[in-house]
Amino acid sequence: MRKDQIQDYYFLKAKKENYSARSVYKLQEIQSKYKVLKPGGSVIDLGCAPGSWCEYAAEILGSRGNLSGIDLLPLSAPAKVRIKKSKVNFEYHQGSILESNPFEQKIFDVVLSDMAPNTHGNRMVDSQGSLELIDMAFSVAKKQLKPGGSFIVKLFQSNERASSLSSFNRTIPWILLAPGRSILRSQSSPNPKPYVKNPKSFILLGLASH
Ligand SMILES: C[S@@+](CC[C@H](N)C(=O)[O-])C[C@H]1O[C@@H](n2cnc3c(N)ncnc32)[C@H](O)[C@@H]1O
Repeated sequence: MRKDQIQDYYFLKAKKENYSARSVYKLQEIQSKYKVLKPGGSVIDLGCAPGSWCEYAAEILGSRGNLSGIDLLPLSAPAKVRIKKSKVNFEYHQGSILESNPFEQKIFDVVLSDMAPNTHGNRMVDSQGSLELIDMAFSVAKKQLKPGGSFIVKLFQSNERASSLSSFNRTIPWILLAPGRSILRSQSSPNPKPYVKNPKSFILLGLASH
């Protein structure tokens, strides 16, 4: 299948399954392999709009679970309904995590970040924007992840050597995933390299206890 056909496939699948975005399948793939989300657990989702990761996480966490989400944008209306139906304890804040973290008093079993900046077409500016978001996600994970928790963050090809990667706890084993592919590399070094030549974005999964 060509790349555009794969994208279409997931777009249509998300539509059919009533998820707000096709990115849900990235999280689903991680979940099916690593079971990072657990019923009754606590999760923060950074950059969560339109809401597919929250929708999926809410269903797994259930009524004993706690889910916090933040985004510059509002959640989609269907996401709000689906999250409510799951009965998870949900708190949402609309605003920039770079400006304030309304959840800074909480600690979490899982920190998720699928944040992506608006692109301006200028590579340096865009790369700087995504680095700031990644650094912020690492900072939230450092301060608010429970011992034994998991951290899932979307990185971009240009951010492979984000300074935060090397400053994050070196003892956490990293697993690097690329979209539509299975595990690329698993290592304890915090400076992983992408296995495929030019993935636009990939996911870094840190499992504190695996
Ligand atoms: C790829 S989308 C996330 C999709 C989401 N995971 C889902 O499944 O629906 C990236 C999101 O990051 C958000 N974002 C970008 N900069 C942000 C910031 N400074 N604070 C909070 N969210 C931000 C964008 O508004 C956008 O909604």
